[in-house]
Amino acid sequence: MELNRRTVIAGAAAAGIAATTLGGTAEAASGSSSGKGRKPVKELFGKLADGTKVYRWSLENGGTRLKVLSYGGIVQTLEIPDRRGRYENVVLGFDNIDDYVAKSPYFGALIGRYGNRIGKGQFTLDGKKYQLSVNDGVNHLHGGAKGFDKHVWDVEPFTKGSDVGLHLHYTSVDGEMGYPGTLKAKVTYTLNRRGEWRIDYEATTDKATVVNLTSHVYWNLAGEGSGTIEDHELYIAAHRYTPTDSGLIPTGELATVAGTPFDFRHAKAIGRDIRAGHPQQVQAKGFDHNWVLDKGITPRPEHVATLAEPRSGRTLKIATDQPGLQFYSGNFLDGTLTGTGGRTYRQGDALCLETQHFPDSPNHANFPSTVLRPGQTYRTSTVHSFDA
Ligand code: BGC
Repeated sequence: MELNRRTVIAGAAAAGIAATTLGGTAEAASGSSSGKGRKPVKELFGKLADGTKVYRWSLENGGTRLKVLSYGGIVQTLEIPDRRGRYENVVLGFDNIDDYVAKSPYFGALIGRYGNRIGKGQFTLDGKKYQLSVNDGVNHLHGGAKGFDKHVWDVEPFTKGSDVGLHLHYTSVDGEMGYPGTLKAKVTYTLNRRGEWRIDYEATTDKATVVNLTSHVYWNLAGEGSGTIEDHELYIAAHRYTPTDSGLIPTGELATVAGTPFDFRHAKAIGRDIRAGHPQQVQAKGFDHNWVLDKGITPRPEHVATLAEPRSGRTLKIATDQPGLQFYSGNFLDGTLTGTGGRTYRQGDALCLETQHFPDSPNHANFPSTVLRPGQTYRTSTVHSFDA
């Protein structure tokens, strides 16, 4: 893999392909000649209505380029080469802060305190009932009306050995969005010399609470705004998924994928079965489900999914320690949003692969627990590897 990446980068340099956004050459994109990544660069991106400044950080290492906003920890752009060394931004986003504030469906954002849905925004913990912010019909979605995606995070850049990255900090006060406990969250984005993007999440609390952090990147490996992802081939290492009710809340059942459109145990084009008419798909307008990863919770990230775009050759591999993966096929993109490249996003123009605990876990005793208690540290990691 490493050899392959280096070959691609060397090829790009030989072809004289220059970095479009950071002004360097493709060679420079692999970090300095000593193999060390360069220090992240900060610039002003915009201001919120109350005058708060939002910064954008540019990182590159091992042939991967990342732009991250202090608002929501949003990955605004992520550029990787195709098999001929041509770079493309492969994630959906906006070119200005106002659109992120006004209408983003969580493009590239950090999600907390709880990724995906909690039924009716209610749960009981240690005998006490909690009512969370309800922002998706009668349900709680992605942390509520003002989740982690809508806060400005403190960002601290670092270089460590050949790695470059950002530490992002946000403290969510007791009672925010209805959750108990002051939750101190720290997320670290690292780009290593192989161009892998790793996310390490950490959180502590001063009262028993629930937590489930994730990242909401919308992928299109052919390039942001280039059309449908139906040709992308997807593999998910899961023989079960969690079916939902009409509000996309899990019923509690762990259903087999065998003989259904939900079977991605062998890589297949996303478009192949997306119109198969399975009641679960009709209800969700496509794929919008949690896959129960066969490996379960693991001490370290393990490979669970591969996404490949045949024309460009770009491939994304995801490794995680988490028990679940939400595959969302961009069903609610409806042609009303125009992204970074000036093109309009329509249904199925990108997909999300969110590593997570199962949705609505606080209301399902048979799902792995998402409870965090004082004295414990919530820790989870996900690694994105790229190839072409
Ligand atoms: C959810 C979708 C939701 C989307 C928000 C996904 O993680 O599974 O149901 O509409 O986020 O854009």
